[in-house]
Amino acid sequence: MRNEWKTFRVRSVVMGIRTAERMNHIGQETAFEVLVRARALEARGRSVIHLEIGEPDFDTPGHIVAAAQQALEEGATHYGPSAGLPQLRQAVATYLKRGRGLDIDPARVVITPGGKPIMFFAILALINPGDEVIYPDPGFPIYESMARFVGGTPVPMPLREERHFRFDPDEFRGLVTDRTRLIIINSPHNPTGGVLTRADLEVIAEVARERDVVILSDEIYSRLLYSGKHESVARLDGMLDRTIILDGWSKTWAMTGWRLGFGVFPSELVPHVERLISNSVSCTASFAQEAAIAALEGPQDAVDSMVSEFTARRAAIIRGLNALPGVRCLEPEGAFYAFPNITGTGFSSRELADRLLEEAGVACLSGTAFGQYGEGFLRFSYANSLPNIEEALERMRAFLTAHAAVAPA
Ligand SMILES: Cc1ncc(COP(=O)(O)O)c(C=O)c1O
Repeated sequence: MRNEWKTFRVRSVVMGIRTAERMNHIGQETAFEVLVRARALEARGRSVIHLEIGEPDFDTPGHIVAAAQQALEEGATHYGPSAGLPQLRQAVATYLKRGRGLDIDPARVVITPGGKPIMFFAILALINPGDEVIYPDPGFPIYESMARFVGGTPVPMPLREERHFRFDPDEFRGLVTDRTRLIIINSPHNPTGGVLTRADLEVIAEVARERDVVILSDEIYSRLLYSGKHESVARLDGMLDRTIILDGWSKTWAMTGWRLGFGVFPSELVPHVERLISNSVSCTASFAQEAAIAALEGPQDAVDSMVSEFTARRAAIIRGLNALPGVRCLEPEGAFYAFPNITGTGFSSRELADRLLEEAGVACLSGTAFGQYGEGFLRFSYANSLPNIEEALERMRAFLTAHAAVAPA
């Protein structure tokens, strides 16, 4: 992240346009940068296997596309209410009751263009300069970026391999201060595939209640779970009134390009978020919201088959990564990312990610794209076909056999 901020500063000077000071404090998602570099290599005739970008490679299910087409034909092409169509907010509340056992007033549900604006708006609405925001590290880079952008102090909550990438409760408690205003959790987790247990959520809830802190619970991968049932921290005693749930359609129904997400907010935050929406995007596309209802209420077999396809790919990539020289990898419990430890190769994360792209034609992300505690790891998205995953493993095997400084067993 730090390096990315430097890039911004340099760029603004070169262009000769003086940008606002706050632009020195905003980060970005490396996945999009790597995608651009990979596409540039492809344009020069090189073959690249894309394991960098976090989006399902499946098509949006047909009945959802049909619902959008019908809505367009019926004239759903106008502005709508900032917080979203009432019938969609109701459908989200019903969906959360069915899937997560949450009793939610639809008036708490806010629809946004993608899940990302929920973190943007929540942080804008809550964080003053100097307020501390605890966030998972490694973790989705936008948490830290936004906290810093608004003048807050991002406080990393380390997630370590030896704890299967779940936080250490004692260490976490030690991070909480009188200035802590927001705690961000993400389960299933990007980039590690880790999943928080009920006991972990109890620790988060206990601290939130004791310290009167708000939780942002990013549950965008809640349906991409390989065993068990997703649990929301909002379900725990007294937590609905201090939790913001972030979720959406991007990952569950393969709808990343539609830009559709939702948040569930404590009631008193909703008018503030509505004002942020009316000051920025006005509302979410009306016909897309009609399709979102079809996704929630229609057949779910496409979601189930996507999860079983991801299960097969997970087995292949984890087996393959563990067979590479100097690499070991835990089995992810959710989402579609593998996060192998590559310290045994002798490379830093950044160097290995760069060389795999340039020399082996495999695009992946350095663990450091997700924070300082990502050093020693790479992130592979297995939202790609089995043959492509096998080919990528073969390319990496050839590269590491030639270049890794692996200590003899
Ligand atoms: C943890 C996490 N939260 C939120 C998002 C944002 O999703 P959307 O595309 O709906 O904005 C992503 C996307 O990669 C993510 O990985």
